[in-house]
Amino acid sequence: MTDTTPRLPLASSTGAKKRLFLRSWGCQMNVYDSGRMADVLAPLGYAPVDAPEGADMVILNTCHIREKATEKLFSELGRLRLLKEEREAGGGEMVLAVAGCVAQAEGAEIVARAPYVDIVLGPQSYHKLPEMVARAGRAAGAVIETEFPVEEKFDHLPDAAAPQGVTAFLTIQEGCDKFCSFCVVPYTRGSEYSRPAAAVLAEARRMVAQGTRELSLLGQNVNAYHGEGPDGSEWGLARLLYALAEIPGLDRLRYTTSHPRDMDEALIAAHRDIPAVMPFLHLPVQSGSDRVLEAMNRGHTAEHYLRLVDRLREARPDLALSTDIIAGHPGEKEEDHEATMALIRRVGFASAFSFKYSVRPGTPAAGAPFRVDEATKDRRLQEVQALLRDQQAEFNASKAGQTVPILFTGLGRRPGQLSGRTPWLQPVHAMGDSSLVGRIAPVRILAGHPYSLHGEIEPETQQEKNAA
Ligand code: 5AD
Ligand code: SF4
Repeated sequence: MTDTTPRLPLASSTGAKKRLFLRSWGCQMNVYDSGRMADVLAPLGYAPVDAPEGADMVILNTCHIREKATEKLFSELGRLRLLKEEREAGGGEMVLAVAGCVAQAEGAEIVARAPYVDIVLGPQSYHKLPEMVARAGRAAGAVIETEFPVEEKFDHLPDAAAPQGVTAFLTIQEGCDKFCSFCVVPYTRGSEYSRPAAAVLAEARRMVAQGTRELSLLGQNVNAYHGEGPDGSEWGLARLLYALAEIPGLDRLRYTTSHPRDMDEALIAAHRDIPAVMPFLHLPVQSGSDRVLEAMNRGHTAEHYLRLVDRLREARPDLALSTDIIAGHPGEKEEDHEATMALIRRVGFASAFSFKYSVRPGTPAAGAPFRVDEATKDRRLQEVQALLRDQQAEFNASKAGQTVPILFTGLGRRPGQLSGRTPWLQPVHAMGDSSLVGRIAPVRILAGHPYSLHGEIEPETQQEKNAA
């Protein structure tokens, strides 16, 4: 699991009595959810701290999508057990909670293996956390909630309390009905649910009022969004983007993760017509072989994906794409792997995530015949990654010499340095005045490195700032 623990304001700076340590793995949705868990616990006097030592409550927000998620969770729990025992020996307490998709998938099994866990809660139960903390205090044994009433969750979570920063996430949709052969999401996050547009717009306005300039709309299947519009009609994602783009001060919009099947005409047109919609799209393809795509139950062919890319680039010629690739899905032959390599070459991705297929018990692929052996999976993944790395380096290098609008998100590591991002989500470093944080300024890109860009703020912008 990748550690994606969000940065939250710390207890020591807020004077709160109880210390909450939240560790988050996995997707951006988990980062967002961790923020909301901190929000619901704030009225109980909990405020985030940056280490588990001495914490009154520890929440592990888990991700089930990657390999060995469950084992990683149990080894982390083993370490926390010692801290909990130490704390209890000293007369204190430490409430230990497991949240997220592993909690959803494993449920009571977690408590069976780790009886010192107090709370197990699935992604749809975060609004019940205060009640569960109270119950855990009273009850002998753990409190477990892994139901799926997703509407209830959004109705009951408070509005985002902590300002999320210049760039922020907003969950608009959860769950998935696609049932790709390899994926646990339909089982852990449940069926698709879209938040009403009015709730999304209100949350976006509040975030912008607190300084957010760039908003990434989140959903496991975000472009399947079909929320209730303020007029009672159903809104698709395109309609929502047009409405969000009207919010003054909201300069940049993104959305992730999309499915090729839900990339409709209106959404493609939104890329052409809305300047705030950034020219970058994460569009997982998983494989370039029709046979494997079919086995994956993806519901599209390689040709369909390529045509989609062409239409998107027609609508927005500077559009850059990123994708997800799985190497070694059951039944993948050498020619299928070659088809994937060919598709990658044909599209030319700006960035990508690639994974070795790994079994998720309970998913259709887990029982499929013709497993690919580990060494072959490894080799194919390496080939895929080498090609994707070259494409990313090439894409970054292609920006050298261009002047690009950069949204400055914070201070860089070196004194006097700022960090920001391009419309294509590339990290950029440039020397500049800290008052530029939260603003967009033209930057001349001097060099495009494999993972980031280095640039120089156009002199007029700096002078304007100095004169102001
Ligand atoms: N094995 C490998 N990769 C997987 N993904 C999801 N499930 C699996 C699995 N069982 C990848 C997919 C998905 C991304 C979020 O994780 O590429 O798009
Ligand atoms: Fe999983 Fe995405 Fe497929 Fe849904 S569309 S099952 S979330 S890979």
